[in-house]
Amino acid sequence: MEAHTSPDPPLAPVDYDKVQHQTYARGRVLPAEAIARYMAVFAEHLPERRPLAGIDLGSGTGRFSPALADAFGGPVWGVEPADGMRAAAVADAAHPHVTYLAGRAEAIPRPDASADFVLMFLSWHHVADKLAAAREIARVLRPGGRLILRSTFQERIPDHWWRGYFPRSWDIERAMFQTEAEVRGIVEAAGFGTVASVRTEVPFEGDIANLVERLKHRAVSTFEHMTEEELREGFDRIDADLAAGAIVEKPTFGDFIVFETPQEPAIA
Ligand SMILES: C[S@@+](CC[C@H](N)C(=O)[O-])C[C@H]1O[C@@H](n2cnc3c(N)ncnc32)[C@H](O)[C@@H]1O
Repeated sequence: MEAHTSPDPPLAPVDYDKVQHQTYARGRVLPAEAIARYMAVFAEHLPERRPLAGIDLGSGTGRFSPALADAFGGPVWGVEPADGMRAAAVADAAHPHVTYLAGRAEAIPRPDASADFVLMFLSWHHVADKLAAAREIARVLRPGGRLILRSTFQERIPDHWWRGYFPRSWDIERAMFQTEAEVRGIVEAAGFGTVASVRTEVPFEGDIANLVERLKHRAVSTFEHMTEEELREGFDRIDADLAAGAIVEKPTFGDFIVFETPQEPAIA
């Protein structure tokens, strides 16, 4: 049973320009099948017409932006505040229908009613002023436009295969993530309706040695809140278990909420 206390003091924001931009793309690379699976499940919650214009908000190194353009036609704007993350996207995730822009969720550099969808993939919890962000997203979406907010929610933190090696990660993530009700409260206060709360299965992908190699890039923001000693100790135990063939494979899940802006009122 894990401990349920919150760490003290509160978590400092993660500066993606410090370290993560150098390692994120390699550390968080997803197999093409995993990206395709996400596109298929997102398609179930977006209009069927094509093309759809989209914003990948908090696009990071552009892990999803090109796939969004391929799946939905685009154009897609990847909006990202960290210069280093954006530079990695421009260098390694270029696509003819994707434009990467400097910006943040609280001040999106796009005109009113210019997008059919916004994807926030693991970026919501980094946003300082979430209500301002939700209002901005409502502004840039067309009537009936959709926000797909992929996050972790405090009451159901996924039990990743590496969790047991870094036990304090449970507490850190409980402090890091809001409950689903808190997220919905903020987004609905900006005028959105909630359409669906979705759980996707994430199979255990690739061989374990490769997953260990990826994890060692430490491209998980939870690790930014741990001490060097905790991390070293956890990775030493991982190495020992890897050598002994004792790492337990665990499929996990990814949660997202789908929100919609109001449709245009019918003309009487
Ligand atoms: C965990 S990364 C996710 C990147 C990308 N969506 C992905 O899944 O690969 C979180 C990203 O959110 C960005 N971010 C931080 N504050 C933000 C804000 N206020 N508005 C938009 N993005 C923000 C970070 O710079 C970082 O690139």
